[in-house]
Amino acid sequence: MSGIKLLATGSALPQHVITNHDLEQIMDTSDEWIRTRTGIGARHHCRGEECHTSLCLDAARKALERGGIDPQQIGVCLVATLTQDHLTPATACVLQKELGFQEDTICFDLNAACSGFVYALHTAECLLAAAKRKYALVLGAEVLSRVMDLTDRSTCVLFGDGAGAAILEWGEDYPSLCAVMGSRGNRQVLMIPGVNTGDPSYIHMDGKEVFRFAVEVLPRCAKEVAAKAGISLDEVDRFAFHQANQRILDHAIKKLKLDPAKCTGNIAHTGNTSAASVPILLDQLVSSGQLRSGQKVLCAGFGGGLTWAGALLQLA
Ligand code: UT7
Repeated sequence: MSGIKLLATGSALPQHVITNHDLEQIMDTSDEWIRTRTGIGARHHCRGEECHTSLCLDAARKALERGGIDPQQIGVCLVATLTQDHLTPATACVLQKELGFQEDTICFDLNAACSGFVYALHTAECLLAAAKRKYALVLGAEVLSRVMDLTDRSTCVLFGDGAGAAILEWGEDYPSLCAVMGSRGNRQVLMIPGVNTGDPSYIHMDGKEVFRFAVEVLPRCAKEVAAKAGISLDEVDRFAFHQANQRILDHAIKKLKLDPAKCTGNIAHTGNTSAASVPILLDQLVSSGQLRSGQKVLCAGFGGGLTWAGALLQLA
């Protein structure tokens, strides 16, 4: 059996922080409502020169440096996102040039909304094996502040910007991700119009329906990954779940009877950063020593599509 290990991580958050109190000044909302309904206290928004590409470059450089990997060694570069700077070139292609990957590096962006990073992990695992490459750079990155309707208080208090990066190493005797993923096509519950509709590209979301979907799929997805890996959830060292709403996370922790100490999150400081959420959290877990060499982290995402994805990742 072949598979991958997580070699190094990096992340980048825009400098500008928007607190719930800042939002109180511009819309009919309150710190109390946002905290109790979502667990969010603040989020980061790009300003000035900051953009999707700059966040990705920052996160990727940190991961490459920490992993001691020369950009020329990268064989696959994937960016999970729905808010890239350009429809083309893909951000992954821009990274090829800016970071100096070889020209035969497989580079593309991938959109599976908030499940995107975990979709990209599995895609990288398959590509590394099929294309016989050793290292992949996988990012999740979003600038959701660009697709927020500031007159819609039900969505714009939730989302933030950021990027997370992971260097993956492929090995003959490394563990499989045991990835589980799926989709349930739905345009009503969560949608951002594209180039052909004439409508502004703002997030439209039926929060209650997404909530119902999330509390259904997140625990199921985590259980299926553990079953596929042949381990119990107790044997998992850490859980890195998509940070969409603390109440969704609390529900999953309770339903799966997980140790809350293994499920520390960052939603209070970052809000929901969609595809960037899991890799930013992974980087924070690794940097703070909460995820250590040899340990296993169960990553899971869910969201637009509607999609879900889970995978078990071992730190090298
Ligand atoms: O990344 C994956 C995608 N997204 C998600 O996972 C989101 C999942 N859904 C959620 O997190 C929650 O459904 C929300 C946080 C979006 C909303 O929470 P809720 O408990 O479902 O609230 P609600 O939509 O039922 O709204 C309750 C009330 C409404 O007022 P009335 O009708 O009861 O008078 C809303 O108008 O809260 C009002 N409301 C607000 N009040 C203050 C909605 N947004 C706000 C706001 N501030 N920002």
